[in-house]
Amino acid sequence: MDLKNTVKKKYGEAALRAVEGDNPCCCGSKLPTGIAQTNRMSHEIYQEGDTAGIPAAAIAASLGCGNPSALAQLRSGETVLDLGSGGGIDVFLSARRVAPSGKVYGLDMTDEMLALARRNQQEAGVENVEFLKGEIENIPLPDNCVDVVISNCVLNLSTDKKRVLREAFRVLRPAGRFAVSDVVLCGEIPATLRSNPELWAGCVAGAMQESEYKSELAAVGFLDVAIEPTRVFHAADVREFLSAAGAEAVSVADQVDGKIMSAFVRAAKPAAGGANSTKGKAMPKIQILGTGCARCKTLTANAEKAVQELGLQTEVEKVTEIKDIMKFQILMTPGLVIDGKVKTAGRIPSPEEIKQMLVEAGGN
Ligand SMILES: C[S@@+](CC[C@H](N)C(=O)[O-])C[C@H]1O[C@@H](n2cnc3c(N)ncnc32)[C@H](O)[C@@H]1O
Repeated sequence: MDLKNTVKKKYGEAALRAVEGDNPCCCGSKLPTGIAQTNRMSHEIYQEGDTAGIPAAAIAASLGCGNPSALAQLRSGETVLDLGSGGGIDVFLSARRVAPSGKVYGLDMTDEMLALARRNQQEAGVENVEFLKGEIENIPLPDNCVDVVISNCVLNLSTDKKRVLREAFRVLRPAGRFAVSDVVLCGEIPATLRSNPELWAGCVAGAMQESEYKSELAAVGFLDVAIEPTRVFHAADVREFLSAAGAEAVSVADQVDGKIMSAFVRAAKPAAGGANSTKGKAMPKIQILGTGCARCKTLTANAEKAVQELGLQTEVEKVTEIKDIMKFQILMTPGLVIDGKVKTAGRIPSPEEIKQMLVEAGGN
């Protein structure tokens, strides 16, 4: 079974268990809990006040890793889209915040989840909500039609995250907000975890590195990209989660201590010629220090690739005169300088790493 169908099957089963009144675990029968549900009692993500009046089945079916509708600072009248809306908890919470004139779409690919969400909607009598069937890689909505895209623990499950980010950008109105809770990595995890389909459905194996998440958002055109950790998972949490995936996986729990987190990921679509547009924004100045050797050429090519993928209108300048290179006081070439600051010397950072440096320098 391919990964998408594995995900669909697991969440279909979770929805059915919620209908039957069991607590739905993140990942179906083999994995009793997903990473975000480990030790959940001590890490509740919704405050009691938040969920008052929300159908009990929607709360019980909650499989998220954060509270995006609270973090997104939704305003009355806004239109919101929840990617991978599951049993609908974040849709209902958002609907309350944007009422009376605002509307919330919930999008999910799993029939059983949609049935559960629609049942919850009926029970709650909420009218400013619509659940849509579809894939987050191909959002069934027109361009520029929503103010805020939220999502809770779903992007990590996609096998084509670049496409999801492009789709989110497309449907957002100019100056629209991307406000997503997700599982994010802050360090390399063993290949044995990466290749486990159960752990993909459990929100670990498909998670992106923090730096990659930022640069992919910037690459599709988002500005003001930020990732804030909301919970870091330690070896004990990971061990509990992995125990259901087999002994081999459990043995690496210590190696992933502190490398998996729930995080709030935010970004903004540029306003059309407005405040957060790239128009008029200072572009980073990029210089390569080196006398034209093969390593300098590779670094230049990597920097040009990073600039191109971020869509920046800036030249990569080559500094080849020894006297000019010496001004930067580097001990080894090639050197990479962004906005006058030496970022690396004597090594060749990858295009991904350079993209990250450019994002941090404000060039997204
Ligand atoms: C971990 S659950 C989170 C559900 C909900 N956001 C919550 O917080 O309770 C993931 C949900 O995303 C849906 N999903 C996963 N991948 C998807 C995709 N590519 N397109 C649409 N829905 C997807 C699943 O069907 C499931 O309902």
